[in-house]
Amino acid sequence: MSHLLPLSRVARLVGESRSALQRMIKQGEIATFDGKVDMEELLRVFPDIQWEDDGEYKRVEEIKRKAFGKRIMERVLPDKEVLAERLFELGKEFASAKSLLLYHDQVFGWLGSKLDDFSDCGEDAAQKVADLKKWLRQTLSELPSEAERSQALLAQESVMRVMSAQVTVRPSGHEFFVEGNDTVLEAALKAGIPLNYGCSNGNCGDCKVRLLSGQVKKVHPHDYTLKETEKANGTFLMCSYTAITDLEIEASVAGAADIPHQEIQAKVKWVEPINEQMMALHLTTPRSQRLRFLAGQYLTLEAGGASGEYYVASCPCDDRQLTLHIRRNNRPFARKVFDDLRKEDTVGVSGPAGNFVFNLDSRAPVIFVAWEDAFAPLKSLIQHAMSLEISENMYLYWIADQTGHYRDNLCRSWADAYDNFFYAPLSAREDVEINVSRILANYADLSEYEIYVAGPAMLLEALKKEACARGLPASRWHAELIV
Ligand code: FES
Repeated sequence: MSHLLPLSRVARLVGESRSALQRMIKQGEIATFDGKVDMEELLRVFPDIQWEDDGEYKRVEEIKRKAFGKRIMERVLPDKEVLAERLFELGKEFASAKSLLLYHDQVFGWLGSKLDDFSDCGEDAAQKVADLKKWLRQTLSELPSEAERSQALLAQESVMRVMSAQVTVRPSGHEFFVEGNDTVLEAALKAGIPLNYGCSNGNCGDCKVRLLSGQVKKVHPHDYTLKETEKANGTFLMCSYTAITDLEIEASVAGAADIPHQEIQAKVKWVEPINEQMMALHLTTPRSQRLRFLAGQYLTLEAGGASGEYYVASCPCDDRQLTLHIRRNNRPFARKVFDDLRKEDTVGVSGPAGNFVFNLDSRAPVIFVAWEDAFAPLKSLIQHAMSLEISENMYLYWIADQTGHYRDNLCRSWADAYDNFFYAPLSAREDVEINVSRILANYADLSEYEIYVAGPAMLLEALKKEACARGLPASRWHAELIV
């Protein structure tokens, strides 16, 4: 009996990224059916995986060890009612599998007695029947090692389905997991998928989506009233419901034009000196006011009468914790940060603005090129791409001199941690043309790539000219001019 697993679950089971698995599928190393992987195929491709080392298994072990300590329960386990419903769904599957097994057992019993009927068909036939019965008994009593491995895999997958439900967004195909007590909306945002929403507390109706398959459960009341026709076609509010089973939902992914202008009073969490020229400003928004933005966008910051525009350097997957890179110069806000901004001070945040955002529909390899502190928007884009696991390969070239490669360790740690991430620091003391030829030396044909570059006009012009000469389509050139 075949058991098909969605790709995101396979990624979790075998500890590989989705993009690595997609690469293997593309190269014909893993066969799929409707985008899903059969369990036997999984055992064939990953024969050496120790399922007991799986992260989900360890989390369950941790819960058991800590005897369902309150903190662990809140962080990892779904709400009691959701847990009960998921176990009930799983119980139904087990009941049906068990009744099938009992039936098969019965059939084998019948087969035995049918074979007895052949015992008087001559010595030769009787011996063959006896051999066949012996073989059947022996085969049924010995569980092949392959079946043991399937059992371990099935157990892991069942635990996963109790602990978290997978959501697939149509038509974009994005996938994410709903864990703990999260609503579908919270889970989507944590995964960095910019689905539409407004108030996030059941008043505006902006987060309504259509349920195509699966079961949801209301975990927060909502004042917004759905029309009868909406209820009938499966529409629900993502901010009020969680997932009981794996879901397919119909929802559109927000672009820059869909994000409303917001004004928030944030608190300084940390003013982090990075080097002589750079500070990282870490802000926290109020619990009830998350900042909606897309990676690559910028904000207007204001503190003590000083204001300035800065790119968000953090991932939109954590929309309450914002990081901005501030360069030392004579601009009022930079002076404020370097001179006297302190922890717990209030910073007015308004925005976001800008169209230098990720093409979420693309699965092409991506080249990122940063210039000095214009690394900030690229850091946000890279972290967003990593959280979505949508790019096959990512290549980062960072040209710097005055600011230094001030997050060099972070870039190197990405390169160490991800098989598909490559990093090369370059010097801004070199001519732009030399850097452009260094960057493009490995890419004779750019027709299948996307390029994201943030820097001065001279870099943008030189890089675009060379990239287009190597076949980069205009739609895959994404540039932000930094003055
Ligand atoms: S975001 Fe407003 S109702 Fe869900």
